[in-house]
Amino acid sequence: MRNAPAFLALTLVLACDGASTPNGDDPAMLDAQLRDLLDPYVAPIGTVNTQPPAMVDLGRSLFFDKILSGNRDMSCGTCHDMNASAVDGLSLAVGTGGTGTGAARAPGAGRQFVARNAPSIINTGLGFHYTLWDGRVNGFSNTFIAPKGVVLPAGLTNLLAAQATLPVLSRVEMRGNPGDVDVLGAANELATSPDSVAGVWNLIMQRLVNIQGYVTKFSAAYPTVAPASLTYAHVANAIAAFELATFNKHDSPFDRYLARDNSALTDDEKRGGILFFGKAGCSSCHFGALMGGESFINIGVPQIGPGFGKAAPLDKGRAEEVGFAGYEFAFRVAPLRNVELTAPYMHNGAYPTLEAVLKHYTNPDSAMRNYDVTQLRADLRSSHHGDAATIAAQLQTLDGRLTKGIPLTAEDRRLLVIFLKSLTDPSARNMASVIPASVPSGLPVP
Ligand code: HEC
Ligand code: HEC
Repeated sequence: MRNAPAFLALTLVLACDGASTPNGDDPAMLDAQLRDLLDPYVAPIGTVNTQPPAMVDLGRSLFFDKILSGNRDMSCGTCHDMNASAVDGLSLAVGTGGTGTGAARAPGAGRQFVARNAPSIINTGLGFHYTLWDGRVNGFSNTFIAPKGVVLPAGLTNLLAAQATLPVLSRVEMRGNPGDVDVLGAANELATSPDSVAGVWNLIMQRLVNIQGYVTKFSAAYPTVAPASLTYAHVANAIAAFELATFNKHDSPFDRYLARDNSALTDDEKRGGILFFGKAGCSSCHFGALMGGESFINIGVPQIGPGFGKAAPLDKGRAEEVGFAGYEFAFRVAPLRNVELTAPYMHNGAYPTLEAVLKHYTNPDSAMRNYDVTQLRADLRSSHHGDAATIAAQLQTLDGRLTKGIPLTAEDRRLLVIFLKSLTDPSARNMASVIPASVPSGLPVP
């Protein structure tokens, strides 16, 4: 419903394409045009409640401590790398057992890529109702829905806490496989425990309460809870407090423009904005303060990777979780704040640059048929599923706004990229200062 006006605007403009005034040729008119388009759809980002310092401190240790992973080789910060705007720079994430660092990280022998691209966690605390590319963790009014098969622990305080219960359960991300030996040469007890979700969380708690540094930090964060009564919910709530306190990055030129400073954007950034909120129709999907995040749509991104759930080796996105065929290949509309910093793009990192993303929108059908696998790292190319049957299935649920593609000239695409870069908060470029020098387990911090 919320996007209906923008959708109408798109249809109208497309219908009279060519007859409309070229976007913003008259510099004096740019602000009037952009503000006219903006106001109904986008609002300045709200603030986040201050988090208790002891919770934030505990959460920060947990976020960077490899003790949470079965093989003691992965922390949240391995994939959400603070040196790289909380992403890993890879198309598909690489979990436990991986070799190499940074963009050279590769799956270890006998292991595969994680099915999806690691999104940035910047601004994830700002009131979304969904997280993850398929929204399989979601929450409205403090009831949190987890993926099928997971019963969340009691006492989670927010959506980010609900999300933080999951990476440790994933064998490919943090848990590991039966028979794995950890980096210290000990058997990985998290991997061999029976496949009970609560069992994995309990084993992690046993590790943590055996470390004096954590006992101290937990009692500072939860003064009334005895160590024996701590559950994984206490871990998850602390990680969420750290994320809420740390990753709010919305001091971009665009934010300053929203705060009514007309000089905050250059003329070309304004021209790009006029396209984004106007003729190009981007904001009919990327709506709201974070420019996305609250709906699921199939835009025809080429299928890459090991696949997810029952559909593997394909990834059917939202449909896998909700079972509704209309959602086949639909993924969460990516929020776009700070997007410049989080390449490669889409749920599977199919596109290395913003230019490539915009090219996709001009003709998703042909983008799928003629996908150039050399955009991917060599070890992923053979996992592109570009066969006729897959593409036909993807076309069935392709969003109606994209069946003909969005007619964007080279100049339009240039201006849109310039606009997208105005969404960058410079302090999100490098967040290395939040990495602690050490963590209570004594394991190395990257
Ligand atoms: C192996 C790499 C890896 C590790 C380790 C990892 N993540 Fe992630 N993270 C991902 C990937 C991939 C996704 C997207 C998965 C999906 O959508 O199915 C993700 C998604 C998220 C999201 C949702 C972001 C959004 O916009 O939807 C949050 C928040 C997050 N991770 C936090 C964490 C926390 C906290 C930890 C540690 C407990 C962690 N991650 C560990 C790779 C990783
Ligand atoms: C019909 C809905 C729709 C329209 C119109 C649309 N988008 Fe998107 N956009 C999405 C969805 C859904 C995704 C994620 C798709 C996926 O990963 O499979 C996405 C992803 C993106 C990404 C990648 C972000 C990331 O973090 O990976 C960028 C950049 C982007 N869109 C920009 C734009 C721009 C600019 C326009 C206008 C030219 C636009 N979009 C129009 C739905 C839409």
